[in-house]
Amino acid sequence: MSTVRAVTILEDGAAAPTGTATITAERFTSPDYMHREAEKLWPRCWLFAGVAQDVAEPGDYFVFDLGPESIIVSCTEDGTVAANYNTCQHRGARIAVNERGAVDAFVCPYHGWTYDLDGTLKHVPDADRFVQGTPCDRLSLKSVRVEVWAGTVWVCMDDDVPPLKDFLDPMIPMIEPFRMEDMVLAVDQTVSLDCNWKAVMDNFGELYHVEHIHPQHETIFDCPAARTELWAGGHNRVLIEGFTVNTRLPIPDEVPASQHLQMKAVGMDPEDYRGRVLDVRRDIQIKKREMGPKLGFNYDRLTDEELSDIVQYNIFPNIVMAIQPEEVWIMRSRPHATDPNKCYWDKFTLRMLPNPDADWSANISFNLSDKPIAAEDMERPEHENFTQDEVIAGKYSMTITVDQDVHLIRDVQKGMHSRGFSEAWLNQDEGRVQHYHDWIDAYMAD
Ligand code: FES
Ligand SMILES: [Fe+2]
Repeated sequence: MSTVRAVTILEDGAAAPTGTATITAERFTSPDYMHREAEKLWPRCWLFAGVAQDVAEPGDYFVFDLGPESIIVSCTEDGTVAANYNTCQHRGARIAVNERGAVDAFVCPYHGWTYDLDGTLKHVPDADRFVQGTPCDRLSLKSVRVEVWAGTVWVCMDDDVPPLKDFLDPMIPMIEPFRMEDMVLAVDQTVSLDCNWKAVMDNFGELYHVEHIHPQHETIFDCPAARTELWAGGHNRVLIEGFTVNTRLPIPDEVPASQHLQMKAVGMDPEDYRGRVLDVRRDIQIKKREMGPKLGFNYDRLTDEELSDIVQYNIFPNIVMAIQPEEVWIMRSRPHATDPNKCYWDKFTLRMLPNPDADWSANISFNLSDKPIAAEDMERPEHENFTQDEVIAGKYSMTITVDQDVHLIRDVQKGMHSRGFSEAWLNQDEGRVQHYHDWIDAYMAD
C-alpha cells in the first residue's frame, strides 16, 4: 500500500479553500463510505491511542477501540510499550474486556489461552490436544506498531506508513516545548454523539461558528483575528490570541470577568486595566514569565505569545489538541463500529501541576475550575461515559464551549440526510475544513 503524499500545501495564513473535495453528504452518512474508511484511512494513519501514564508500569494496559477494531496497549516486563490486536488467536474472542487495568498476563476469557504482556503466547490449556501443535510464532497476538511521544501513545496498523515523527511533521517541535510529558490526566471523558465522526472534526475546523454559539469567547479570545496554518498530511493549526477580547466588537472599558482569576493568580489587578483592556495580554506574558517559576510552572521553552494564547492543532484524521501552557485538551473522534451516524468524542484533559515545593501562596489555579494539587496526590480520574442528551440536560459537562458544540452537532447530521442538502458551501474562514476533506479524499482515492 502506498503512502499518500500528494495534494496541496498552502502557505502560512493562506486559509482560502483551494482544494478540490466536494463535501457532499455521502461521506457523513453512507455505510459504504464508512467501510472504505476502515480499509483506506484508519490503517494508514498514526492514531492517538491514549496517555503514557496509563502504561507506565509493567502489567498496565488500556484498550483502544476504533470502529470495529480493538487494540491492547500494554507495558511489558522490561518497561517498553507494546500494542496488539485485542483478538485471541484461538477462535477470535476479545481478550481484554475492561478498558484499562493491570495484569500479570492476558488470559482469554473463553478457553484460557494466555499471552505475555508483550502478546507472546505462553500457555494453552491441554496443549497436547492440538495434534498439529500450537506454535508460538504463529499464534501470539498480532502486533500493531506503537510509539510513545510527549506523554502520549500512538498506534499504526500499517507497516508501510512512515514513523510517527514523520507523520506528525511539522508539529513535533511546536508542541514539545509545552512539556506534555510532565502533565497529568485530570479529566477523562467520552460523549456518544449522533453524528458522523468527521462532522465533529469539521466543527473544530473553523471558528466561523464561534460568535454564534460560543458568545463567551468574545471576552477572552480574539477569534476573528486567528491565524491558520495548513500542512501536508491534512494537519492544520490555528493560533488564537488570549487574554484579549473580540476586536471586531466594541472594546469594553473593563476587563471581562472571565480573565480576572488568572490575572489575580499572577498578581495583576483587573482594575488597573480599566480603559485599556487590550494591554492585558502583553502584561500577562510578562507576569507569567516572572511568576511561573514561583508557582511551579516551567515556561522556559515557550515564547511570550505561547504564555497568553491558545493554539489548536488538528491532527489528521481525528485529533484536536488545544494547548495552553498549563492545560492541554486532547480531543479525539472515533467512529461507531457499525453506524456512520454515530461516533464517540473523547476529551483527555491534561494539566501541568504546580511543583509542591513552589510558592503557591495565592492558592489559585490557572485552570479556573480547580484548586492546585500536588502530582503525587493526584489519582487517575475515572473515565466518564455519557450521552449527548446527558450533556444537554446538564448532567455532564466537557466545559461550556464543548457542551455548546455537543448540543448542536446532531442537527448537522440530521440536516445532511435531507434531499434538500447537496454540498457544503464554505467561506474563507473555513479553509481548514476544505483542506481536511481534500486529505480525506486523497486517502480514500488511493
Ligand atoms: S477464543 Fe481465546 S482461548 Fe478460545
Ligand atoms: Fe465550537
